[in-house]
Amino acid sequence: MIGYADIGDYSAVTFVPYDRPVRAAFVGLGRIYDLNVRGYIDNPDVEVVALVDPSEERRAQRQADWPDAATFASAAELAASGLEVDTAEVLLPVVLHADGVSELLDFGWHVNLQKPMCNSLPEAQRMLDAAKANDRILRVMDNYLFYEPLHRLKAVAESGDLGGVVGYHMKMVGTGNGGWDVPWSSFEWQIDQMKRGRGIMVFDDGWHKLTTAIWLFGPIREVRAWIGNLAVGPGIDLETPATLIWEHSSGIRGVWDVTIAMDMYLRSDYYTNDERWEITGSKGFARVNRCTGRGIQQPSLEVYADGEMRGYHALDDDWGSSFRDSGRYWLRWLHTGEGPLLWSGEEAVDVLRFALAAYESSAKGGIGVDPALLT
Ligand SMILES: NC(=O)c1ccc[n+]([C@@H]2O[C@H](COP(=O)([O-])OP(=O)(O)OC[C@H]3O[C@@H](n4cnc5c(N)ncnc54)[C@H](O)[C@@H]3O)[C@@H](O)[C@H]2O)c1
Repeated sequence: MIGYADIGDYSAVTFVPYDRPVRAAFVGLGRIYDLNVRGYIDNPDVEVVALVDPSEERRAQRQADWPDAATFASAAELAASGLEVDTAEVLLPVVLHADGVSELLDFGWHVNLQKPMCNSLPEAQRMLDAAKANDRILRVMDNYLFYEPLHRLKAVAESGDLGGVVGYHMKMVGTGNGGWDVPWSSFEWQIDQMKRGRGIMVFDDGWHKLTTAIWLFGPIREVRAWIGNLAVGPGIDLETPATLIWEHSSGIRGVWDVTIAMDMYLRSDYYTNDERWEITGSKGFARVNRCTGRGIQQPSLEVYADGEMRGYHALDDDWGSSFRDSGRYWLRWLHTGEGPLLWSGEEAVDVLRFALAAYESSAKGGIGVDPALLT
């Protein structure tokens, strides 16, 4: 069984850290490439040597960023070309993660994978096994862990300024208007995911929220969920309204509520997600007011304690910066092997367990499910 028991191994480095720029390939050049690329631009830790995507249009478009990189329609073609690659930045549709990542690890490349890791525990096991067999690192990136207001929120909770933490909640409203364009092709595979019971709200976007929960307060021992369904078109089912409740091993409880406001306009440079995190302590609270979109126009982090409210006005609260910093962290990590991966393949399995426990709980009428007992 894979799960929390494995976490202690995540930073055990057996490969030799690089003392030269790592040679990287982007595998998948779709919508989210626009943000993941930020970690690679003007970064002396990396040399982008290859771009991989079956879409000729995408290859031509991204070649403008990396004129010296070779382009390929598939990773197998790249591997066969003899071009040396150290690490792959994997930005594939989720359903391709398990096979795709195992293949890349078998080529002997490290992998920085976009979340969600994959759809099932057997798939996750296959990916971890491939990393181990090839002595390569599998990182499952989560840019939210590099969003500065959330970083500060964690620091405030740990500082004791709020007293003891007595609970917290997260909120997510998907809005119908605003934001950047998402091509239909980026949405098509999400519809397939919905048919597999891995929806865009609770599983795909939710992955971030569940990751922050574990990152903030550690292992989860019980999950209860009530996941609704909003059919917005043929085969397009959004898992809202949804409410997830959980208890950490420490006894701290969290709640996440998910809704869709179809007619609401939200100003956003990216996706139209209106999000908040609020931690309640025995003598105060701390709240992150926004993340992906530009909803509440107050400081992105506010901390209340001892009768005073403190607003953080100068944080880098551009969601896009979290991709830059996550990517840079990884590329530096390959040079040092020091510190946590933020986030390792094993830790990502715990997020997967959390999500699967929520689905199981909801299917069984909201009963408590221990994620560690899922098989
Ligand atoms: N961190 C975040 O907030 C965030 C946001 C959006 C998407 N994502 C994740 O990023 C990943 C990609 O999402 P996206 O929105 O960019 O999807 P997308 O559909 O826009 O891009 C995927 C790309 O992969 C290419 N592709 C398909 N099969 C391929 C193969 N075998 N080899 C190489 N390329 C192949 C497609 O042609 C496409 O260009 C998903 O895991 C998604 O969940 C994360």
